[in-house]
Amino acid sequence: MKKVLKFLAIAFVGLVLVACGQAAQNSGSDSDGGSGGTGETFEVGVAIYQFNDNFMTLYREELDAYFKKLGEETGNTYNLDIQDGKQDQATQTEQINNFIAQGKDIILANLVDPTAAGTIINSAKAANIPVVFINREPEVAELEIWPGKTAYVGADATQSGTYQGEIIAATDSKGDINGDGTVTYITLFGDPANVDAQQRTTYSVKALDDAGIKREALAEPYLANWDTAKGQEVTAAALEQFGDKLEVVFANNDGMAVGAVTAIKAAGRTVGKDILVVGVDAIPDAMELLGKGELTGTVLNDHFNQSHTAANIAVELMSGKDVSPYYWVNYVKVTKAEDAELKEAEARKETIDEIKERYAKRDADK
Ligand code: BGC
Repeated sequence: MKKVLKFLAIAFVGLVLVACGQAAQNSGSDSDGGSGGTGETFEVGVAIYQFNDNFMTLYREELDAYFKKLGEETGNTYNLDIQDGKQDQATQTEQINNFIAQGKDIILANLVDPTAAGTIINSAKAANIPVVFINREPEVAELEIWPGKTAYVGADATQSGTYQGEIIAATDSKGDINGDGTVTYITLFGDPANVDAQQRTTYSVKALDDAGIKREALAEPYLANWDTAKGQEVTAAALEQFGDKLEVVFANNDGMAVGAVTAIKAAGRTVGKDILVVGVDAIPDAMELLGKGELTGTVLNDHFNQSHTAANIAVELMSGKDVSPYYWVNYVKVTKAEDAELKEAEARKETIDEIKERYAKRDADK
């Protein structure tokens, strides 16, 4: 008898659990989000500007791993549908429109062209699907379209540029290798549509000005599309043209910095001795060069905390909550391996009014 009762009790609990799971699953796939309880399934659309990018690969892998971890911790299932925008906005817009048609619970968007943000928000809003923008910052006005349901998670590009300049200013020569009183440099430029590229180009050299160091650009910034092979090609051409006059290479990212170092070695020059190179990201290839003294420095672009923050915000949005419009993860100056260690850090929130005020002040100070 006892055994029969026990069996019935277990069967009853089992039925209740199945029923709850079903209800939760249904609510999870509703576009107004679920309750965040155990056993729900969420459909997450992730649009990456292109898979062929060192930094965004680190970011994408960490995002995937972190959603899996969140799933294990909560008992929820997060189905990630990650699409490669192949550096083409038309392709990516189609992928995002498909996410909307499929009724995803959330969209995470690393836009090819951040000026597409407004159109994407309007389409997603019509279907009540929140959007979290990552890595490529849209205009403030775009985030005013659907307050509470759209956000940008990133790192403040001006900070990374400033840190690059400060790393050069802190070297023994302060970048003036030949001691003639002026730092002569080139910049390897990522992508004209990208805020990170624009701000790093401006603020890396502004940090030299702020440190009272005289400087002269040997050429207009070289467009190298964040790419190692292009970084190598344009640096080789600059070395050929300017010879020993070239003292510092500011690269908007490590991919291009690594290419620059290859060109510098091929030209028989030595980083640290007769030329300095600084990048951004702290990708493994750059950290390897730094360890060998073949890169002056880099700046950690913290894919770990950026991807975790984006996922945490996505989860809040999927549970129906409103979120802040901006979440900022700090960059970190890197001149030795320990500087680039990844550790959990809280992102800083900012409101629309605060960012407008900060950007107005920043642009006035330029
Ligand atoms: C990174 C680059 C990357 C770009 C993609 C930047 O923040 O520093 O390495 O190519 O984002 O948008």
